[in-house]
Amino acid sequence: MGSILVRGGTRLKGEVPVNGSKYVALAAIPAALLADSPVVIENLPDLSDVRVFCDILRGLGATVSFAGGVATIDPHGFRPGVPAPALVRKLRASYYLLGVMLARFGAADVALPGGDDIGPRPIDQHVKGLCALGATTSIEHGHIKATSTGLKGTTIYLDVASVGATINIMLGAVLAEGQTLIVNAYPAPWIIDLANMLNAMGAKVYGAGTETIRIQGVTKLHGCQHAIIPDQSEAATLMIAATLTGGDVTLHNIIPLHLGAVIAKLRETGAVILPAEDSVRLIGPRRPTAVNVKTLPYPGFFTDFQAPMSTLLTMAEGTSLVTETIWEDRFKHLEELAKMGAKVRIEGRTAFIEGVSQLTGAQVRGTDLRASASLVMAGLVAAGTTEVEGIEHMDRGYERFDAKLQLLGADVTRTE
Ligand code: EPU
Repeated sequence: MGSILVRGGTRLKGEVPVNGSKYVALAAIPAALLADSPVVIENLPDLSDVRVFCDILRGLGATVSFAGGVATIDPHGFRPGVPAPALVRKLRASYYLLGVMLARFGAADVALPGGDDIGPRPIDQHVKGLCALGATTSIEHGHIKATSTGLKGTTIYLDVASVGATINIMLGAVLAEGQTLIVNAYPAPWIIDLANMLNAMGAKVYGAGTETIRIQGVTKLHGCQHAIIPDQSEAATLMIAATLTGGDVTLHNIIPLHLGAVIAKLRETGAVILPAEDSVRLIGPRRPTAVNVKTLPYPGFFTDFQAPMSTLLTMAEGTSLVTETIWEDRFKHLEELAKMGAKVRIEGRTAFIEGVSQLTGAQVRGTDLRASASLVMAGLVAAGTTEVEGIEHMDRGYERFDAKLQLLGADVTRTE
């Protein structure tokens, strides 16, 4: 599977672009199947999850080309069928095929999805929403099966603000008869971006980005050209890495407004952050100051920034408390960092981190995508060499992260 060797001791310096949003990409690809003519998606990140999803679509009969950050998805050949289970299990977002296939064919048979191992990942809210629209579902032999004689709009109250459930219900509801209200919808920029794409396809989605989304069903959708927004998680990770190394880094192709929580937190650690219209310059402190962090749904401090942030705090001056409220098991990277000399105590959903002045290189393993990237980041400041295994996880959500770090002067090498 390969690993990354990092020789510590470089301050990150220079300029890099940030790739397109993974969350939007993984919703936009299946959304294209709702159209009756080709959809062009621009600024699509080159991630392994994106490539796998393109292969799933090809297996269902769609014609898909993907090169240079642009995918063209022609849904003409899209036929009812069972999406390749081995591919579906490789990623989380494959469950969006439920909403899409129900909307297009009135039936879906999709293997239960895979994704990061970060604690229980129920899909009860997806199922509740699709059933409220008129589907009947069952779980048989590791697959979710759903049928409907025609989806009909209704009001759906989500019990938790869920990215996935909000998107799945949107995908089902755009072609349903009548009006759907999603109450307690996930209020984030990537939901707005997906709504913008669906609206460019002829859908009528209102209120995306707020807690109540209203969808007026239409009878058909057509192709469109849509450029997806920049990836907040990649931008946050690079900003945190720049802070950790005391670097001076400018990120391009970002929307600073979407990064408010992480910018505020990094300023508390001592970083100087200079946002411009679509870029941000970050100058790291000599040594970061300890801060407390609690993960919350957007616009709070987002859970996907927690692993890089808690990695930074292992070297901060003072003691930090990090509370993870979204995922039950998202501190595995801290156990690995202990092998590098980090001082960490985990009690339930809170990590107590006593900053040390130096980490030391070791062989460590990332078990989810944010964890793998965070361990590479730790290697940048550790004395000696760090070998990070589990790089396949990182490649699911970061486009050539190691190459971007090299551009910023880091001494990182990928081994196959
Ligand atoms: N939840 C339920 N029932 C559901 C769905 C979710 O109880 O039916 C709970 C979850 O257990 C969790 C909370 O609701 O406590 C939020 O889960 P959500 O549905 O938002 O997560 P997701 O859609 O499975 C996406 C991202 C994750 C990111 C979360 C943040 C994708 C493919 N994944 O997951 O990304 O952490 O939203 O809410 O979009 C990552 O990129 O590192 C990553 C894990």
